[in-house]
Amino acid sequence: MAPTTIPTIPIPIPTPAPAPIWWREAVVYQVYVPSFADSDGDGIGDLRGLTDRLDHLAGLGVDALWLTPFYPSPWADGGYDVSDYRDVDPRHGTLDDFRELVTRAHALDLKLIVDIVPNHCSDQHPWFVEALASPPGSRARDRFIFRDGQGPDGSLPPADWQSKFGGGAWTRVPDGQWYMHIFSAEQPDLNWENAEVLADFQDTLRFWLDLGVDGFRVDVAHGLRKDLAPPLRNTNGRDSAPLNSPPQGTDHPFWDRDEVHEIYRAWRKIIDTYDPPRIAVAEAGVSAARLPLYTRPDELHQAFNFFFLRCPWTADDLRQVINTSLTDAHLVGTLPTWVLSNHDVVRHRSRYGLPQGTDLTKWLATDGTAPTPDDTQGRTRARAAALLTLALPGSAYLYQGEELGLPEVADLPPHALRDPMWERTGHTLKGRDGCRVPLPWTRSGPSYGFGPSGSWLPQPDNWGDHAVQAQQGRPGSFLELYRTALTLRRRFRGDETFAWLHSHDGGLAFRKGGLECRVNLSARPLPLPTATPVLLASGPLEDGTLAPDTAVWTASAHP
Ligand code: GLC
Ligand code: MG
Repeated sequence: MAPTTIPTIPIPIPTPAPAPIWWREAVVYQVYVPSFADSDGDGIGDLRGLTDRLDHLAGLGVDALWLTPFYPSPWADGGYDVSDYRDVDPRHGTLDDFRELVTRAHALDLKLIVDIVPNHCSDQHPWFVEALASPPGSRARDRFIFRDGQGPDGSLPPADWQSKFGGGAWTRVPDGQWYMHIFSAEQPDLNWENAEVLADFQDTLRFWLDLGVDGFRVDVAHGLRKDLAPPLRNTNGRDSAPLNSPPQGTDHPFWDRDEVHEIYRAWRKIIDTYDPPRIAVAEAGVSAARLPLYTRPDELHQAFNFFFLRCPWTADDLRQVINTSLTDAHLVGTLPTWVLSNHDVVRHRSRYGLPQGTDLTKWLATDGTAPTPDDTQGRTRARAAALLTLALPGSAYLYQGEELGLPEVADLPPHALRDPMWERTGHTLKGRDGCRVPLPWTRSGPSYGFGPSGSWLPQPDNWGDHAVQAQQGRPGSFLELYRTALTLRRRFRGDETFAWLHSHDGGLAFRKGGLECRVNLSARPLPLPTATPVLLASGPLEDGTLAPDTAVWTASAHP
């Protein structure tokens, strides 16, 4: 028998493959809780309604859900005015309902992300109630931004800061001081230089993490720190940009200040103590150059890509946005997110039906009549945009109802409007209710299956045509396009490599891992390469060409 020789080459010991990082390429479905599903017939969506419909979401093929606020709230801003950060509003259910939701979601392999609203709380939050009852200079007032006014009798606001919802950002209280609110007066801004505020939000993070949530969506992540050094600086009109547009210029007194990052470094340390990995995604309306700062390796994991959302429907614009998004995210070792709609913007099916550059707030003020959207164009482009979005490397955030191709309900009657923007602008801006109309699940019925009775915002007469029931199993429907795309997308997950391919003028063509995507943004048909079989197309393909406003997926011949 040959003597045993000791191997001189070390035997490779297989190291366990690193756990796949679930969020890098996750498809996250945004649930606008009040409008998703109502289980108890009060016309308002609730956690049980959502739990009852989880099978639908799992069947659609999404990986995670982001829930907009369901915390106790007087609802001055659709729940973004929180009066208790560690409970559930009775309208939406109970903490036990939430526990049940987490358990059922996880059993279906769905992750759960919740919204955290740290910039401001509700004026009904015990802290603000206490602040109003306490004298100027008190500890209770220091949790907020209270200042004396200007002018001999202090009757002028401390600075010229403007609210995002219209009007000034300062409101005077009976003892003569003013408090600051970037949004409505019912949403006082918290003072993030106050140690109690910092500590309390860290407790809130732990509270939801301990309940099993997989992550947070950080509301107004770029607004928490303000330059409060006296005298307060005026913005001189530099705060008039629409919601989530980057502030104009640098060194703004309250947007995108460098100090804000300290907060996220501390949060990241907490988040990283949990296993399996949890995440945080920033809602930060800042410039492309500054956005990556929020997703540095020791800060938040992702940031919403509003540049993609706002990008005009042209090949050149989209190519440029995709390039910068990828490059900027790579700088900090992450991947971009891709977003087309959310609860703050006109639904993209309607946007894509309007001429490029339409002022959407003015359009809404005409109840969506001037101009009238070209619905065929909107529909065709929204379908192509879905395939474009879902093919790109990174994480895609879908807004509830886009999988049904829902249009904006632009003609809500004034008495139905709930967005604080409507009142604060003296009834000139209608606000965001038109994208928040409760979902249609069935063709008919009291609220098209949203719940057993009515719905808190009126649904249009034809809403049932868009219902899940009307689209399920119907080839060519939005729902089946999304379902097929999401199933296919899973096959190509894990390989993040991206390369542009040759495309004709007005077209986009790229490869993500083993998937190729081509989109025709021009007005004439473009030739398609013949060799590879088609996996999915957003519209009919004729004579080997790609029709205008159409996208196609093929398997790459060169994986
Ligand atoms: C974010 C939310 C928006 C809300 C605002 C104030 O932009 O998305 O709905 O009104 O913050 O909390
Ligand atoms: Mg309800």
